[in-house]
Amino acid sequence: MNFVFREMRQNDKEKMRAFYAGLGEESTAFFNVNHGNENRTMDFFSSPRPNHRYFVAEIGNEIAGHLFLWDTDTAVPWLGIAVRDDFQGQGVGTRMLRSLFSLLKSEGYGGLLLRTAQANTAAQGLYEKCGFQRLGTHPSGEYLYLKRFGRKEETA
Ligand SMILES: CC(C)(COP(=O)(O)OP(=O)(O)OC[C@H]1O[C@@H](n2cnc3c(N)ncnc32)[C@H](O)[C@@H]1OP(=O)(O)O)[C@@H](O)C(=O)NCCC(=O)NCCS
Repeated sequence: MNFVFREMRQNDKEKMRAFYAGLGEESTAFFNVNHGNENRTMDFFSSPRPNHRYFVAEIGNEIAGHLFLWDTDTAVPWLGIAVRDDFQGQGVGTRMLRSLFSLLKSEGYGGLLLRTAQANTAAQGLYEKCGFQRLGTHPSGEYLYLKRFGRKEETA
């Protein structure tokens, strides 16, 4: 599979619309309640939010996966990630995270934080496979995860 991980670009607007349209009911419930993350992403094309960065995974000419960071002015930004329904379960999330870790490490970041719904066991599987540690429960009721970079023995 021809897999490309790269920063989102200004000419990706229609592809990003197609990506969000390709998230099914459950994915939307976990990732895009009230269009929150879609709005956060689409703002990039009109009035980019400060301290945000957006990435895509392309397979062929389609955006199969998407992730974004915020608080990028800190050593440990927050992460959001989703894979389009028809590409889930094929390793796209894992490949995106590994590509992201290697980029962020090279840029001197210390790690990543994220929150996920307690019911989102697929996402928890992805995060734990990729070396995130569950720290406990965030005040929102979601689980809080931390990935730390920089250990010599880590390759993920
Ligand atoms: C969570 C998500 C990003 C995972 O991406 P993905 O490309 O499907 O994941 P991968 O194929 O790389 O799988 C990685 C691991 O995740 C877990 N996983 C993925 N899909 C799973 C499923 N349907 N059920 C249980 N575990 C699953 C497994 O541990 C898997 O490891 P394995 O293949 O060695 O068993 C994707 O399911 C998704 O976009 N879901 C909807 C949006 C969402 O929930 N985003 C996260 C919000 S916090």
